[in-house]
Amino acid sequence: MKMEIISIFIVKGFKMNYKYYAKSNPIETIKTRIKSPASIMEKLERKGFELSVQSIKDNLDDVAGIRVICSFVDDIYKVADMLTNQDDIKILSKKDYIRNPKKNGYRSLHLVVEIPIFLSNEKKPMRVEVQIRTIAMDFWASLEHEIHYKKFSNSNVEAVKQLTECADVIYETDMKMLKIRKNLLDEED
Ligand code: GTP
Ligand code: MG
Repeated sequence: MKMEIISIFIVKGFKMNYKYYAKSNPIETIKTRIKSPASIMEKLERKGFELSVQSIKDNLDDVAGIRVICSFVDDIYKVADMLTNQDDIKILSKKDYIRNPKKNGYRSLHLVVEIPIFLSNEKKPMRVEVQIRTIAMDFWASLEHEIHYKKFSNSNVEAVKQLTECADVIYETDMKMLKIRKNLLDEED
């Protein structure tokens, strides 16, 4: 099946699920991606798994990926709850890198979920890696990824330290924004 078709199915599923939040949509943007055959092979090899279709099914959680970008930190947990409460979505695993950030400062909520994909004449379960993060967390992760991608190495201790400092400042700002919104909402009541 064409990968673009899978993406469309995933996004459709999400749209149906979040329309209940139309009044205060917690979702800013959704990005989907399907891992390229080359990076599937690279990952199987790197992790020492067999190179076969069965092995992809057994070992890789992130062939299909969705990134949900939220405005505020608490929206992340709203989206996660919404997914968890959905009957046809099964949560296979959860990693909270917001409550427990990675050592480099990376923050996001990661879920591996199984969702039904409806094809013309069948329904198939599909595993999808869902990364939920704020605009600010996404800003950091994109630039950090870009810096590493361009092969500035992890061994540059000073650069790594500075990136972590940026992640922490960004998170502080995220928390301030949340507080500002909360105060304004309280005033409204
Ligand atoms: P792999 O699936 O092998 O990568 O290991 P894992 O399952 O332990 O990965 P994890 O759930 O921690 O992270 C998977 C994805 O999250 C990565 O492919 C990235 O998209 C993102 N991610 C994790 N850590 C970082 C990080 O330090 N920086 C950035 N920019 N992205 C990260
Ligand atoms: Mg993974």
